[in-house]
Amino acid sequence: MKFIVIILSLIIFNCIKCESNKCFHQEDHPFPFFASKTAYSYVSAKQNYTQPNCKTLQLWLLSRHGTRHPGSDTIDKISNLNEYKNNLTNNSSLCKEDFEAIKTWIFNLTEKDGDKLNSQGVKDLSSLGLRLQNLYTDIFDQPYNNITYSVVLSSTKERSRDSAFYFLKSAFNVNVTDIPLINSDDIKINISKFQILNDNKEVKKFRSSIYIQDVIIRVSNILGLDRNLALNTIKAMYNSCRFERSADLNSHPAWCAVFSQEDLEVLEYDEDLKYYYANGYGDSYNERLGCPIVKDLIDNFRNKSQTQHGPKGVFYFGHSTNVFSAIVRLGFARDTTPLLSSNFNDMRDRKWKSSYLSPFASNLMAVLYDCHGEKKVTFFVNEIPMTVEKYGCTLCPWTLIENMFDPIVSSPSWKVRPGPVTYVLMEVRLSPSCVLYMLG
Ligand SMILES: *[C@@H]1O[C@H](CO)[C@@H](O)[C@H](O)[C@H]1NC(C)=O
Ligand SMILES: *[C@@H]1O[C@H](CO)[C@@H](O)[C@H](O)[C@H]1NC(C)=O
Ligand SMILES: *[C@@H]1O[C@H](CO)[C@@H](O)[C@H](O)[C@H]1NC(C)=O
Ligand SMILES: *[C@@H]1O[C@H](CO)[C@@H](O)[C@H](O)[C@H]1NC(C)=O
Ligand SMILES: *[C@@H]1O[C@H](CO)[C@@H](O)[C@H](O)[C@H]1NC(C)=O
Ligand SMILES: *[C@@H]1O[C@H](CO)[C@@H](O)[C@H](O)[C@H]1NC(C)=O
Ligand SMILES: *[C@@H]1O[C@H](CO)[C@@H](O)[C@H](O)[C@H]1NC(C)=O
Ligand SMILES: *[C@@H]1O[C@H](CO)[C@@H](O)[C@H](O)[C@H]1NC(C)=O
Ligand SMILES: *[C@@H]1O[C@H](CO)[C@@H](O)[C@H](O)[C@H]1NC(C)=O
Repeated sequence: MKFIVIILSLIIFNCIKCESNKCFHQEDHPFPFFASKTAYSYVSAKQNYTQPNCKTLQLWLLSRHGTRHPGSDTIDKISNLNEYKNNLTNNSSLCKEDFEAIKTWIFNLTEKDGDKLNSQGVKDLSSLGLRLQNLYTDIFDQPYNNITYSVVLSSTKERSRDSAFYFLKSAFNVNVTDIPLINSDDIKINISKFQILNDNKEVKKFRSSIYIQDVIIRVSNILGLDRNLALNTIKAMYNSCRFERSADLNSHPAWCAVFSQEDLEVLEYDEDLKYYYANGYGDSYNERLGCPIVKDLIDNFRNKSQTQHGPKGVFYFGHSTNVFSAIVRLGFARDTTPLLSSNFNDMRDRKWKSSYLSPFASNLMAVLYDCHGEKKVTFFVNEIPMTVEKYGCTLCPWTLIENMFDPIVSSPSWKVRPGPVTYVLMEVRLSPSCVLYMLG
């Protein structure tokens, strides 16, 4: 009995020891999920999905820009970590390599780099263009021109324009310099004017929950500090970690070493809660934001399937909010249980994971096929075919999809109405679930 206890305690002792000696720098496959700063290749399709027995009539793509540098605010906050690297004490439980990496960490971005597409971002869009060109030979069979291919930028932001440029460059082998910019009144893609940003109560509650508090304690301990860091400082470390990681897929960024996998999963949930209420199913109003863009998709497919006229390719380049709103309007990644500050553990296998829905260069794509005379449709998120739950199909008859979204599409006209207090009510005479409120 005594012998067993000794053996057991030896095993436990050794495990604790090996746990505390674990070096981030020696991990071969560090945890890759960083919400909207996840690298595309970790979550996108691992194989090519084609329909060899069908002809592709039209490809409709809505893409987020590729990997970018942090925004100028975040650059500032990350720069401030230079102060904290000197606070590492001998009581830190980081292994020597991880400890040295933080001590010698150099951050060389400045405010002028803020939000710019970086070299990984160029690769993201170039490789997407090349993959689609190879897979959809019926679509990319003509030289680029703005009649056969319709390109729309969802934002005047440099990163969206550059993303469109590198996509077209690799898909068509041209330098398109006159990519049309968005009309700021275009409600399909300028959703900001309709977004009602409420106080995110669940995120607030989550931040004072035991989950986030434990992250604060663990990170402060591992650095050997005698008091707890502020959550903002921990967020700066998280940002430093995930931006460096997404910019260089093989890197082991210094600040990643302060987080355990549990910490990263908690921080991912914090981000998921944010998007769930700001862009997702957490607020039913958000389901309306995708009406205009989904109407464009259905209109395009309807025209193409009826008349064969219209472009072969329709390409939008924008932001994560655009991709989220289309995903939500189409009904993908909807959980039956809402995400709350209190159910992190129960929701570990949730569908709503921004790492999967909105990595850099995330995209929603829809493909219209002609399969021996029958029109069919497949939706893809990050090149992975999605199941339309209502019918259990991935290659779905177009007529079913057309009917399913008919309430969103049937009446094209918009009407402006005086609304309550500061709102002007803009009514799409489509369906009650598509009425948008514009900030007056
Ligand atoms: C998918 O297709 C692309 C382009 O043809 C090719 O480079 C890539 O190797 C293919 N991937 C797989 C997993 O078959
Ligand atoms: C880090 O060190 C600086 C002085 O070098 C000190 O002002 C600051 O409070 C320290 N921060 C923490 C969290 O210990
Ligand atoms: C390390 O921890 C010991 C015991 O908790 C404490 O007395 C000491 O001041 C700490 N050293 C540093 C550098 O924080
Ligand atoms: C930490 O340890 C190193 C050597 O291990 C020693 O040179 C240094 O003075 C120690 N620093 C503190 C603050 O105890
Ligand atoms: C910034 O640092 C990275 C990695 O540490 C390095 O590859 C890059 O060349 C540096 N850039 C500048 C402008 O110094
Ligand atoms: C299409 O290209 C032609 C010639 O480059 C240009 O005159 C025209 O304005 C473009 N149309 C659109 C919608 O961008
Ligand atoms: C695009 O522009 C680059 C740089 O100006 C040039 O090197 C390249 O040859 C151009 N490619 C095409 C297809 O015009
Ligand atoms: C979107 O609309 C808002 C409000 O009308 C406007 O301020 C903003 O400039 C527009 N965005 C773009 C990219 O045009
Ligand atoms: C569909 O076709 C109609 C009639 O030709 C046209 O007015 C409309 O703009 C087209 N819609 C799209 C999204 O192409």
